[in-house]
Amino acid sequence: MVSRVRGLVKKAPPRIERWDLNEAVGEVVALTRQELLRNGVVLHNTLSSDVSHVMGDRVQLQQVLLNLVVNGIEAMTGVHDRPRELTIRTIRADPDTAMVEVRDTGTGLDPGYADRLFHSFYTTKAEGMGMGLAISRSIVEAHGGRLEAAPNEPRGAVFRFTLPTKEKAQTSPEVLRS
Ligand SMILES: Nc1ncnc2c1ncn2[C@@H]1O[C@H](COP(=O)(O)OP(=O)(O)O)[C@@H](O)[C@H]1O
Ligand SMILES: [Mg+2]
Repeated sequence: MVSRVRGLVKKAPPRIERWDLNEAVGEVVALTRQELLRNGVVLHNTLSSDVSHVMGDRVQLQQVLLNLVVNGIEAMTGVHDRPRELTIRTIRADPDTAMVEVRDTGTGLDPGYADRLFHSFYTTKAEGMGMGLAISRSIVEAHGGRLEAAPNEPRGAVFRFTLPTKEKAQTSPEVLRS
C-alpha cells in the first residue's frame, strides 16, 4: 500500500511553474465550501496583497493545502462548546518566501507527539491513513519549503508552509523524480 500511495504522488510529472498563490488558494477554498458549510465551520480568509507569485507544482501544492483544510475541519468535528473557525492566510515571510497558514479551533495537537504527526501511518482517526501530512511535508520540502505545526491560541492548531517566490536552481525535486 505504501508504494501505491507513493505512486500517486509520483504519477504526474512535476510541473514547476510560476503562479498566483492567492488565486490557487481561492480555488481550494471554493472546493471545500460545501464541506465547511456542512460542518458549521466559519471561514476567515486573509490573502495578503504582498504575496503574488510562487514557484512550484501548482496542483501538488493545492493538494497540500486541501489536506490541511480537511484536517482542520476534521479536528473540529468534536467541538460543540465554541465556534468552529478556520483561518487561511497568505503571508510574505521575506522577499524570497511566501507562507500559507491554516489555523483551526479544533481539539489541538497532542503534546509530545509534535513531529510524529508527519510520520507515515500516524493517525488518531478511526478511518485515517496517516499519510496526508507525511506526503505533504515531502512535497513542500521538495520545493525548498518547510511545513510545520504549532498550537493555536487558545485552542486548536496552526499548520504553516513556505514556498519560494523566485526561480531557483532546484527544478527537479527528489520526491517527484525518484
Ligand atoms: N488540524 C489538526 N488538529 C489536530 N490534529 C491534527 C490536525 N491535523 C492533523 N492532526 C493529527 O495528525 C494526524 C495525521 O494526519 P494526516 O497525516 O493527515 O492523516 P489522517 O488525516 O489520515 O489521520 C491526524 O490523525 C491527527 O491526529
Ligand atoms: Mg489527513
